[in-house]
Amino acid sequence: MLSDAPNIRNFVSMANWSDQDLLELLDTADALKSRKFRSREGEGKVLGLLFFNPSLRTKVSFEVAAAHFGATTSIISPGQGSWTLETEIGAIMNGNKTEHVKEAVQVLSRYCDAIGVRAFSTLKDKNADMSEAVIRDITQYADVPVINLESAMEHPCQSMADWMTIRELFGKNQLADKKLVLTWAPHPFPLPQAVPNSVLEMASRSGIQLTLACPPEMVPEDPFLSRYKEQCRQKGHEMVIEHDQQKALQGADVVYAKSWAAPVIYDEPLREAQLRKEIYKDWTLSGDKMKATNDAYFMHCLPVRRNVVVTDDVIDGPRARHIDEAENRLHAQKAILMKLWNLSL
Ligand code: CP
Repeated sequence: MLSDAPNIRNFVSMANWSDQDLLELLDTADALKSRKFRSREGEGKVLGLLFFNPSLRTKVSFEVAAAHFGATTSIISPGQGSWTLETEIGAIMNGNKTEHVKEAVQVLSRYCDAIGVRAFSTLKDKNADMSEAVIRDITQYADVPVINLESAMEHPCQSMADWMTIRELFGKNQLADKKLVLTWAPHPFPLPQAVPNSVLEMASRSGIQLTLACPPEMVPEDPFLSRYKEQCRQKGHEMVIEHDQQKALQGADVVYAKSWAAPVIYDEPLREAQLRKEIYKDWTLSGDKMKATNDAYFMHCLPVRRNVVVTDDVIDGPRARHIDEAENRLHAQKAILMKLWNLSL
């Protein structure tokens, strides 16, 4: 949960944006989508996109979003055509990192009108991850708006697309009667907490009834968990945490499947790997399991491992909405760019 520099509006954390701000962005995104909006008002502006990790949707949707305003993008992939970048403050740079983000981001600020940053957790340094050290430092070096393209603990652009999607499914004022289940899913590798956190943030802010279905060892830690519980309470619901997946799915209107690593990974990575192996198959989301739901929609941020996270019959079925979510990344991000660049609708 990052705070912005006083004089710059960033989009680095949902926590820095009020419900009212976010709802206005969603209304703008809806309008942009329905009008197939294009303008040239952003002509001459440049969006820098710094990717420490791979991407399909985030990269292309931001390139297209910028193009829809007449703006351009510059993609920086450290170590792949641009210098490798050190992120640690105080590092003795006698290894394979050529440049520090401190210089790189200050330089990019002189060229670009906003900078998007993707920097995943490495699941090695809990304090650095929990404090969002990498993107926090980058926002301090930048003197143009910074957009979080997925950091250690948050993926706020995904949150906005997901919120937009559930509003489309149920109506923007009809969420209180609906039940969203975020279910843990198997994966061969340990994955960061950013997307599940962002689903929980979005759901707890949206007013939908929220159930988290996961093995006991996978429950997210405080301060994140307490925040989601409190936000649900403020919307008039208790967040439910259920370790029996089949029970959790009962009556669900939307099921969001995602894998993440057990928090114990920072201290005992071998135990975490063993844990995921033991429960591996039990949590795959299947058509049989979905029969317990209220004919629920299926959601996933993508990329997804078929027949590991979710079976083909669900993801190829009539209630799957993962492609709509991916499309909505474009519209939600256009709304964010409009706000940060003060463009008109
Ligand atoms: N959901 C998402 O962020 O997709 P990419 O990793 O492909 O950008």
